[in-house]
Amino acid sequence: MVSNIILFGGSGKVARHITRLLTAEGHKVHSIIRNQDQKPDIVSLGGNPILQSIEQASVSDLAATITQVQATTVIWAAGAGAGNPERTQAVDNEGAIKSMDATAQAGVKRYVIVSAVDVRDRENRPEPEWYNDADRRRSEGVWRAIGVYMWAKLAADRSLVVENGRRGLEYTIVRPGGLSNDPGKGKVAAGNVHLDTMISREDVAAIVVECLKNDGTKGLAIDCVGGDTPIVDAIAEVANGKIDAFAGRY
Ligand SMILES: NC(=O)c1ccc[n+]([C@@H]2O[C@H](COP(=O)([O-])OP(=O)(O)OC[C@H]3O[C@@H](n4cnc5c(N)ncnc54)[C@H](OP(=O)(O)O)[C@@H]3O)[C@@H](O)[C@H]2O)c1
Repeated sequence: MVSNIILFGGSGKVARHITRLLTAEGHKVHSIIRNQDQKPDIVSLGGNPILQSIEQASVSDLAATITQVQATTVIWAAGAGAGNPERTQAVDNEGAIKSMDATAQAGVKRYVIVSAVDVRDRENRPEPEWYNDADRRRSEGVWRAIGVYMWAKLAADRSLVVENGRRGLEYTIVRPGGLSNDPGKGKVAAGNVHLDTMISREDVAAIVVECLKNDGTKGLAIDCVGGDTPIVDAIAEVANGKIDAFAGRY
C-alpha cells in the first residue's frame, strides 16, 4: 500500500536518505523544509517540498499541512543541533512536541521520531544495566558537552511517551548513536547497545523505513549503533523482544 508521509526536517542528511528510500518504494514523501533553495534537491530525490518553518508554525498550522496532504504517517528527522540553545529548545524540544500534537490533531496515528542514544534522565533514573565503563565515560562526556541538546531530546521523547494517553499515537523512537556520512552497510546493532560505535546516516534512514514495515516496533524506543546484524533482523529482534532502551529512564 502506498503511504503518504510527512517528513519534518526533510532537507536534513538522514531525511534525504529516508526520502530516497521511501520514494523508491513508491511512497509519497512530503518534506517540510524552511529554505526554498533546497526545493530542487528534494524534488530530485522524489520528494514533495513544502515550505514551513517548524519554529514559526503553530500546532494547528502543522496539523493543517498534515491534513492537506492526507498523510498516513509522520516522521520527525529535524533538529537544530547543539550550537544555539534557543534554537535547540525551539526545534528539538518544542518543535518536536508540536509535531506530536499536530499529528494527533490531524487524526494520524503512525509517528516515528529520530532522537539519540543515551537520552535519559541521568539524575533521577537508573543507568542502563548493560553500560560498561566506556559507556559511562562517553555518556558523561556527551552530556557535559551538549547537555542542552540532550535535555531537549529528553523533554520531547518523554512527552511522546508520557502524554500518549491523550494523543493516542502509534509511535516509534529511533535513537542512533553518533552519526557518520559513510555509505550504509545495511547492518547495525540495535536494542541494548554500547555507545562507542558510530552509525551511518544511511543506515539510520533504513532503520526508520524498516520500523514503518514492522508493526512490532510501535510503542518502542530503539537504540542503534554500527554493527553486524542485517537491519531487518536487528529490528525484528528488538520488536519481538520488546526491547525498549528508554523504559524506566525518563
Ligand atoms: N549528529 C549526530 O551525531 C546525531 C546523533 C544522534 C542523533 N542525531 C539526531 O538525528 C537527527 C537527524 O540528524 P541529521 O544529521 O540528519 O541532521 P541535519 O542534517 O542537521 O538535519 C536536520 C534538519 O532539520 C531542519 N530544521 C531545523 N530547524 C527547522 C525548522 N525550524 N523548520 C524546518 N526544518 C528545520 C534543518 O533544516 P536546515 O537545512 O534549513 O537547517 C535540517 O535540514 C537530528 O534530530 C539529530 O539531532 C544526531
